[in-house]
Amino acid sequence: MKKAIFAGIAALLISTPLTAATAFTDAKDAVKYRQAAFQLIRHNMADINEMIKGEVTYDAARVQKRADALVLVTTLPWEAFQVAGTEQGGGDAKADIWKNLDDFLERGEKLAADAGTLQAAAQTGDKNELRKAFGNFARNCKACHDNYKE
Ligand code: HEC
Repeated sequence: MKKAIFAGIAALLISTPLTAATAFTDAKDAVKYRQAAFQLIRHNMADINEMIKGEVTYDAARVQKRADALVLVTTLPWEAFQVAGTEQGGGDAKADIWKNLDDFLERGEKLAADAGTLQAAAQTGDKNELRKAFGNFARNCKACHDNYKE
């Protein structure tokens, strides 16, 4: 039994293509992935925004859930900008990204770090803290889009 499992794992390792180090089959697939990640960011952010503005009833547990999600989803898009050929894979990404990849990735890291601050602010239950952290978080979007998104 053990031997069979081992043989199975060995076969899997041998047959695994080199691209298996990423989750993407090709550049187009990577574009789809990062766009899907940005949509998740947008949805989770918009819900917090509406609650802060009072457009929908404020619900601390829901804010927390959204902020927790943002901590994860803001880490997702960046890997999909580093797949071979992805700059030709379509989407709204400007070619400048790959000329300034370090700057671009730093902005991505900052977004994720600010999501962490937002999460911490949500945990305090202090609405002013939340509003401030949300403002800082939201500023990242336009700043990056102005430079790097069509
Ligand atoms: C570091 C740069 C950067 C930051 C920060 C950033 N974005 Fe983007 N965003 C992009 C790029 C580049 C694209 C275009 C991706 C593509 O089409 O391949 C994009 C695309 C999008 C899209 C369109 C996705 C689709 O379906 O085509 C949405 C929505 C979006 N971003 C929302 C946000 C929100 C909300 C934030 C802030 C919370 C944010 N982005 C922060 C760079 C960024």
